[in-house]
Amino acid sequence: MMDAKAFLRGLETKAKTFAPSARATFEANEALCSWMLDPLARWAEAAYGDRAFEDAAKGYAKYCLGVWKCQQLYEKSGRYTPESMPDLISEVYEDEGYMVPYMWAAILIYPFWPSMVSHIALYRDDFLKSLPVGAKLLELASGHGVMGLLAAEARPDIHVNGFDISPPAVAVANRLLGVSGHGHRVAFEVKDALKLNLTENRGAYQGIIAAMLAEHLEDPRPLFAVLAHHLADDGLVFFSTALESAQRDHTFEFHHESEPVKMAEEVGLRVTRLICDAGVPAPGGRFLPRALGMVLHRR
Ligand SMILES: C[S@@+](CC[C@H](N)C(=O)[O-])C[C@H]1O[C@@H](n2cnc3c(N)ncnc32)[C@H](O)[C@@H]1O
Repeated sequence: MMDAKAFLRGLETKAKTFAPSARATFEANEALCSWMLDPLARWAEAAYGDRAFEDAAKGYAKYCLGVWKCQQLYEKSGRYTPESMPDLISEVYEDEGYMVPYMWAAILIYPFWPSMVSHIALYRDDFLKSLPVGAKLLELASGHGVMGLLAAEARPDIHVNGFDISPPAVAVANRLLGVSGHGHRVAFEVKDALKLNLTENRGAYQGIIAAMLAEHLEDPRPLFAVLAHHLADDGLVFFSTALESAQRDHTFEFHHESEPVKMAEEVGLRVTRLICDAGVPAPGGRFLPRALGMVLHRR
């Protein structure tokens, strides 16, 4: 049976340039990264066969190269320069050829990027372990579905409803779900996170995951309203976002850690834990790419 190392072997075959730094991050955090990658390797092999690991590596390499190019352009122009939202929807979120490799990369950056690896611990130890017994979870921008599936794997008492705007991403999530054994407790559907009904289901979820979504919105404030509306009084939110990190589909530019914190506070949520780690800045550059993660509570 495949395990985490299959992803590293894939990188060494199909993404050689990026393999040494990925391996270094993995080896420095092996137990934590394996908590994420061991089950994913089993699901990936069962859903996609042996080719999953080389496909994942190719997706990761394409993504890392794209991020590097976008960051160079960001340094030159001084601001994010995204395409229009309708173009991003048709050319990114609805395009299977773009989304499937992107979804592999979106999950592999957690164990392979120094700026993301601490998010795994925050998610596992400060969010999942603290959810009330029998919690109902809402996952916004579930993408590949792996966060929701790991929640079900770690907590046999919980249920997860995942929504993502991208049909090909939801297809990946459902393919992994189909082999995961969690089909009776997890569901993934195509839905815009900002179009959830705000007149119903107040306080219906004891856990909400909104991981790496806010920077994809033209304005993230309505997302915080969605979080505040759907969160139960004893519930927790796992929220994460990118700061000063240009990518093709990053539309909202956060500069300061205080910005998402303030947006959360404005809707009555409070931070119980916050982490933020920097990636590699462009030499002589003015922007410092970072990934922020926080757990929020209603107060
Ligand atoms: C970087 S991926 C994050 C996936 C996953 N949450 C993670 O942490 O790896 C961004 C995801 O946001 C989704 N997305 C973008 N705008 C959205 C919206 N308005 N509603 C729901 N999903 C959205 C994209 O389709 C994509 O799957």
